[in-house]
Amino acid sequence: MLIVKSNPPQICILGLGYIGLPTAALLSHHGYYVNGVDINLEVITTINQGKIHIVEPDLELLVQQAIHNQRLTASCFPSPADIFIICVPTPFHENSGNIPQPNIDYVLSAAESIIPVLKPGNLVILESTSPVGTTEKIAELFKLSGRSTDQIHLAYCPERVLPGNILQELIHNDRVIGGLSPEATTLAKKFYQIFCQGQLLTTDARTAELCKLAENTYRDVNLAFANQLSMLCPNLGIDVRELIYLANHHPRVNILQPGCGVGGHCIAVDPWFIAAADPHNTSLIQTAREVNNSKPQWVVTQIITLVEEFQQKYQRSPTIGCFGLAFKPNVDDLRGSPALEITTTLIHAGHTVLVVEPNLNFHERLELTPWQSAIVNADILVFLVAHKEFLNLDINDKKYLDFCGVTSRKNNVFTN
Ligand SMILES: NC(=O)c1ccc[n+]([C@@H]2O[C@H](COP(=O)([O-])OP(=O)(O)OC[C@H]3O[C@@H](n4cnc5c(N)ncnc54)[C@H](O)[C@@H]3O)[C@@H](O)[C@H]2O)c1
Repeated sequence: MLIVKSNPPQICILGLGYIGLPTAALLSHHGYYVNGVDINLEVITTINQGKIHIVEPDLELLVQQAIHNQRLTASCFPSPADIFIICVPTPFHENSGNIPQPNIDYVLSAAESIIPVLKPGNLVILESTSPVGTTEKIAELFKLSGRSTDQIHLAYCPERVLPGNILQELIHNDRVIGGLSPEATTLAKKFYQIFCQGQLLTTDARTAELCKLAENTYRDVNLAFANQLSMLCPNLGIDVRELIYLANHHPRVNILQPGCGVGGHCIAVDPWFIAAADPHNTSLIQTAREVNNSKPQWVVTQIITLVEEFQQKYQRSPTIGCFGLAFKPNVDDLRGSPALEITTTLIHAGHTVLVVEPNLNFHERLELTPWQSAIVNADILVFLVAHKEFLNLDINDKKYLDFCGVTSRKNNVFTN
């Protein structure tokens, strides 16, 4: 049984990023005492001031209230609690070959850090997107330390939230919960009932782990198909967005929208966790990754072609305005961003580039230009990310390339 020492239960959340911080704030809002733990001192200091270090609607107010009410404290070390939630990064190892290998070091380190404060009856939930078998590895770690998993309940419950709408989705999304034992599953389900209004679907830990990876891989494969269409359509004189709009009127077809690549720390990463587990049976998954990884270079080639045309016509090099750096619309997150890759490739090749990212005030390496002046001063506008600020721009007299569909949306055509 979960031994609840305090009423309401004390929660300890490891990792105060896009997942951990909104979860901590929401639980505090529901009256729970949350110790948020992070290894980044700046993050701790910011949160303890009632501020946030990420861009997420409505989150700052919730964190401010939680800190003010002393329901949330941020610190560098875990303290004893009834429930521990691990929300730390799970990247892949850089340069680990054709199939990048998952890096679960952060997860194991977070799990290790709670060992000294674990007590019999504690529930430990892993939320980080993880390769199959990671929850079992945590159990092994606890066993090695002399903790019996009979006394500590371990469950895996992945996150499905969409940055930009995290607080709503934390409440309303359906969740998959897989314990290492039926009891752990039941306890974890009981815990999520506190704040989740979506369906809570139970299974075992391994199935829950693969379920999350399969969801993101499904999207990656579909995006690879859309991106492949977007690369072949210009050669055939066809507008890919019109094509997809028309195809999606078939009752059983739903092609996603192509972009300038696939980035971020989820969809571009998680398929490799499946491929790494079984390289021989994942050719489709691996190919989809390669197609999506090749898209930014294709985009650069399209831009260079237009630049060369401009040079021939006007006998000077154009100024290029790159609109959007983030890996997806309306967020400040640059992790694995294809837009960032494209922009820096153009700059390194010696082009004059005005870099626009309305969700950032500052970038340590790139000088940012407000979109208003980039529209005026750039000769060629390149739309890489469909941020809301770019939706209604007056660009009729400008040369532009749109790799994110933001100009189609403005005219309200081909969107579905
Ligand atoms: N961001 C999303 O939209 C999203 C969606 C679904 C799943 N996920 C998954 O959730 C997990 C967390 O993602 P995120 O976006 O919140 O990451 P993040 O990078 O925003 O935050 C992770 C935090 O964990 C901290 N950290 C690292 N090691 C730690 C340790 N040992 N102890 C305590 N803190 C530690 C980091 O300093 C960082 O602040 C990842 O596995 C990710 O794939 C993220």
